[in-house]
This record gives sequence, C-alpha cells and structure tokens, in this order.
Amino acid sequence: MKVSYHGHSVVKIQTNGKTIIIDPFITGNSLTDLTIDEVKPDVIILTHGHGDHVGDTVELAKRNNALVIANADLCAFLSFQGVKTHAMHIGGAYQFEFGKVKLTQAFHGSGYVIAGSQEIIYCGMPAGILFMNEGKTIYHAGDTGLFSDMKLIGERHPIDLAFLPIGDNFTMGPEDAAYAAKLLAAKTVVPIHYNTFPPIKQDPNTFLEMLDDKNGKILQPGESIEI
Ligand code: NI
Ligand code: MN
Repeated sequence: MKVSYHGHSVVKIQTNGKTIIIDPFITGNSLTDLTIDEVKPDVIILTHGHGDHVGDTVELAKRNNALVIANADLCAFLSFQGVKTHAMHIGGAYQFEFGKVKLTQAFHGSGYVIAGSQEIIYCGMPAGILFMNEGKTIYHAGDTGLFSDMKLIGERHPIDLAFLPIGDNFTMGPEDAAYAAKLLAAKTVVPIHYNTFPPIKQDPNTFLEMLDDKNGKILQPGESIEI
C-alpha cells in the first residue's frame, strides 16, 4: 500500500488500484499540495464533521462518484446533499472490496458549521479510523485528546502506521501524542494536524524526539510511505 500525507489531516491510501482519501480538506488548506481537480478518490473516509476534515467531500464525491464512509449522523447530513454514503459507527468494522474499515473512538466535537448562517449541524460522534488491507493496518486518530484505550486499539489491531495529531489546542499536543504512540505501539508514527493555523503551530521534530522508540517520521505534503 502506498500511503501519502497532504497537509493538515489529509491522508491518501492507494491499494489494489483504488484511491482512498481521509479527511479531504483541500480548499483553504494552505499546507496541502493537492487540488480538487487532480484528486480522484474512489472512496472518502471522514473522521468527524468539522470543516477542516469534511473539507471538499461533497464536491469530490459528486465529481468522482466516490463512496463516503463516516459515522451514521455525518453520513445522513452528506446524503441530503446528494452524496453516496456508507454509514458506520464506533466499534463497528466492515469489509469493503477495497479493504476493511473500523471506526474507533475519539474525544472531540463533530458539529458542521454552515458558513455565514449561524447554524451548526449535529454530525454524530468524532471517530478515529482503522484501515486494513494487504495484511497491513493503518490508524488515523482523527482529532482527539489522549485516552488510555489507545492501548486497547493497538492490542486488538497491531498497527503498522499511525497518523497522530500533534497540534495541541484542539487535539493532543506533542507530549500527549508521544504518550499515545507508546500506548498504540505502532511500528511507525507520523505527526498530523499541525501548522495549518496559528493555534496549532508546532515543530514536528520536537514530537519525534519525544518518542521512546524513535519510530516517528515526518512526511512533507506530497510525501509517501510504502507499507
Ligand atoms: Ni475537529
Ligand atoms: Mn481539526
């Protein structure tokens, strides 16, 4: 599997000829190397309903006839906009033809703010994502604070590659993310959700230095790992 990082929380997985994108926040993402014209996802997986994660989902799903996978409440909201969805919820896994997806817990919010309307739409609970295919397991933590059941997630699903937020303020900061890496016991850990906005400014090298196992890898937007 080829797994690439595209700034903020955007992760792209290429497996068996399919392109899967997680949290495609492209428009307004100053760090991304992607444009919505060049990304052609078959599948979009969302961690939660915040704008910096839902991003360009509706546009991308419609243009590419992509399937959107998310929690049931967020799927309902997106289906009202004409998007093809597969609803799941925390703790549930489903074997798709392109891989297995399981939603895990995350501690965060998940309301979608309608720009300029002073309206906020309930989009269910936030989640993390386990993606399994070709004998490998990827964990995308979404936006979350540190929680001790990360140990349970790692025990139940040995993780090859974990994407962990380090930005602080809205999610774990570098210290908590380094502790999370220890609990998860992932083979390789990649920091995400930093430097996009002033409150989440971080030096990812600080995070790498804090890792007991020195198993961190910084991916610049557009860089990938083969697992
Ligand atoms: Ni969020
Ligand atoms: Mn976020």
